[in-house]
Amino acid sequence: MSERLTLTEDIPSTLRLRMLRPVLLLCIAVVLLGCEGQSARNLLPSHVPLIDINPDPAITEVRLIASPARKEYLPGKLADVWAYRDGARSDSVGTVPGPMLQARVGEQVIVHFQNDLPAPTTVHWHGLRVPNAHDGSMSSQHEIPPGGTYDYRFVVQDAGSFWYHPHINAPEQVEKGLYAPLIVQGDPAISVAAERYLVLDDVKLLGSGKLDEAVDPLDIMLGRPGNVLLVNGQREGRIEVPSGSRERWRLVNVANGRYFNLRLPGHRFYVIGWDGGLLPIPYVTETLLIAPGERYDVLVTFESPPAGHLALQNIYYDRGHNLQDPGPKDLVEVVYGPAGPPPAALPTVLRIPSSVSVHKNTPVRPFVLKEIEDPVNGATFQINGERWPMNTPLHVTRGSTEIWEIEANPEMDHPFHLHGMFFQVLSIDGVPPSVQWGWKDTVNVPRGRKLRLAVQYDPPGTWMFHCHILEHAERGMMGELVID
Ligand code: C2O
Ligand code: CU
Repeated sequence: MSERLTLTEDIPSTLRLRMLRPVLLLCIAVVLLGCEGQSARNLLPSHVPLIDINPDPAITEVRLIASPARKEYLPGKLADVWAYRDGARSDSVGTVPGPMLQARVGEQVIVHFQNDLPAPTTVHWHGLRVPNAHDGSMSSQHEIPPGGTYDYRFVVQDAGSFWYHPHINAPEQVEKGLYAPLIVQGDPAISVAAERYLVLDDVKLLGSGKLDEAVDPLDIMLGRPGNVLLVNGQREGRIEVPSGSRERWRLVNVANGRYFNLRLPGHRFYVIGWDGGLLPIPYVTETLLIAPGERYDVLVTFESPPAGHLALQNIYYDRGHNLQDPGPKDLVEVVYGPAGPPPAALPTVLRIPSSVSVHKNTPVRPFVLKEIEDPVNGATFQINGERWPMNTPLHVTRGSTEIWEIEANPEMDHPFHLHGMFFQVLSIDGVPPSVQWGWKDTVNVPRGRKLRLAVQYDPPGTWMFHCHILEHAERGMMGELVID
């Protein structure tokens, strides 16, 4: 029988008891994670960019390979993972997260992708507006078989923080390590001492340090909650920040189903961007909720040196199903280093507001997200009473605008993602959101609430929309939008 790590998790024992088959209850956690403060925390690795093999400054051309690899999540113990690596570096090895794709607005990107996995895959460029054939979903291309290749080509249109991941059997493939950051440069410069892309994840490990491949009904319901939290693929990492100065943090949640609710005690997040790039008007928050698939871009000023230990923490967020508060968990230790340049004045306007125009005759299209509980075989999930892949594709006209009214079942939240285009949130239960004009491709739909989104249909093709809790999407909560 497999040994499991002690759960650092927010799963109430009553729920586990209800959901788990009795045999699993015999599993005793035997490995304790290193105690807080005792392990020397390692500096977080920075992301290695994919090498641009094309000298033309208007083109970024890279070689990307997906293959089996090894990863040391727990000290001295190797996990078998699947990972991306840079095919242009002869000595490259697969890393989790994978190498970062970087480009500038207006550039043409060519990715020569090679599948060295023992299973078919695709690559989806989450959030990028790309021609349909290069979107990497099962609705827009054939699967790339083991040993197969595919050339993705697109022009990057929007500056912002994105990521890429497979779109076949995503709950397994992303959990195994296939995910990587993607940055499109080209927004107005904001003066900061440093910039980081923090990729947030969790992973479900056995005491042996290997991935726990068993999936129980609770994993299906919550999206495979891991027992180890990771930032840039590392647990219990450390960052050193410039005292008295400011950094820009890009944040993405790549977990199968975990919600991250961030807090940095004594500091505030000055939110400058969302999925679709900079916000017209930034805002300040003490806690930052990031649902699976979402990105946030924040400025953090380090002028309050802590008396003791300071860490970026994940705190409780009530996502439904009566999950209890396990208390704050440290994601990464934050250490004040030597003084940096004093922060410049904070920008108050970052972008000219633009919006999808809707009026009282704009058609409203309802979407009802529903969970069908099954404690024995695991839940299934529906959109408007249908389960992907038995869904009926929606047909709409290019250039037209509609309001999507998305209602989540009363049991739990669902992060809703649409491929191919950005949208704007118009209202939550009829009330306009406090932050307006921000562009999103993934939005959390809180349980029992109704969100209205403005969507303008472009470009043509078949685009997937789904819950970004990967187990939910794979088990039915996914549909297709055909724009012609
Ligand atoms: Cu990030 Cu359809 O996915
Ligand atoms: Cu969901």
